[in-house]
Amino acid sequence: MPFINDRLMEQAESRPPPVTPGARVSRFQFEPDQVMARLSARIVGQDPVLADLEAMLTRIKADISDPERPLAVYLFVGPTGVGKTETARLLAEALHGRADALCRVDMNTLAQEHYAAALTGAPPGYVGSKEGHTLLDEERLRGTFRKPGVVLFDEIEKADARVIRALMNVLDHGRLPLSAGTRELDFRNSLIFMTSNLGAREAQARLSLYRGGWRRWLGLRPGEVERIPEQAVFEHFDPEFINRIDRIHYFQPLAPQRAEALLDIELDRLADRLQGRDVHLSWQPAARARLCAGQDIRYGARDLRRRLRNELEPKVAAAMFGHPGTRQFLVRASGGTLEVVPVMDTEPHDALRHTT
Ligand SMILES: Nc1ncnc2c1ncn2[C@@H]1O[C@H](COP(=O)(O)OP(=O)(O)O)[C@@H](O)[C@H]1O
Ligand SMILES: [Mg+2]
Repeated sequence: MPFINDRLMEQAESRPPPVTPGARVSRFQFEPDQVMARLSARIVGQDPVLADLEAMLTRIKADISDPERPLAVYLFVGPTGVGKTETARLLAEALHGRADALCRVDMNTLAQEHYAAALTGAPPGYVGSKEGHTLLDEERLRGTFRKPGVVLFDEIEKADARVIRALMNVLDHGRLPLSAGTRELDFRNSLIFMTSNLGAREAQARLSLYRGGWRRWLGLRPGEVERIPEQAVFEHFDPEFINRIDRIHYFQPLAPQRAEALLDIELDRLADRLQGRDVHLSWQPAARARLCAGQDIRYGARDLRRRLRNELEPKVAAAMFGHPGTRQFLVRASGGTLEVVPVMDTEPHDALRHTT
């Protein structure tokens, strides 16, 4: 009886979970350690950030936070491609079990003053002002009774001062009145993340200066480079704004030793996508080494993604069309480049399996 079963399922979702004697009950249904296990498998080199996020999730699950404020307000600062946006996206995904659970606002699009309306809806008198349409996806930002919503204001240093003022209200009271005046957005069940790359360029420049020129003999003072983004943040934003942030995390540039771990993550992703096409890759160690060696870690993981897309994926695609009946391919290094060759079904797969 599918109908009855559906009704029972619905009821089970809205009922509080069964009380185990001795266990503490919470309206929230997520396990901080399980959520963070998903993130640890996908984000490398930012362990202090992940540890702190787990502590934050545990605090939220206890449901003891001020009900008139957002559940959490974080600022992630750091160079490009080190996992700031990805951390927020993965957290939303792990909490809600959906890849598109994050409510992301690209502050670049709000850079000019008249675009500020896009956040709060058009000002009274303008077309669309009655509806109070906004860039923000209300359902995603609000979350549910059992799960917090996750909002990301990306690259916040680009936002106009008016937008920052509107945000202060959000950080303070968890509410954003829409210009139409009839409605407000409610952030009191939201985790709010903001990102910025303030100071990243200067920090990188200082590092290269001391690594390259005669100054390398002088050496850097301890903490000198790390302080550059900190100073940039405190110079750019008003103290009133900074005061409303629970915690600022400075993401570390990815060290070259992380190349291997990043490659594993990206190849896992590619394997997932290929699986959907019923195609499987095995890897010669030399081919993996080639991809690792050439990574330009200055652009974080973005460089690796670009190289997979430009150097590997076209060859996989050509091999797929060239050998429509084949499901298994081998990636090998040949001369200076990568080669994707079919593995015939008559060949023993097991011989290759250990190379993947
Ligand atoms: N620390 C990291 N661990 C694993 N993958 C990462 C990391 N940093 C970046 N990436 C990868 O690079 C891509 C760009 O990262 P992103 O988080 O958007 O960078 P940004 O710090 O500029 O916001 C992501 O999609 C992700 O796959
Ligand atoms: Mg980003």
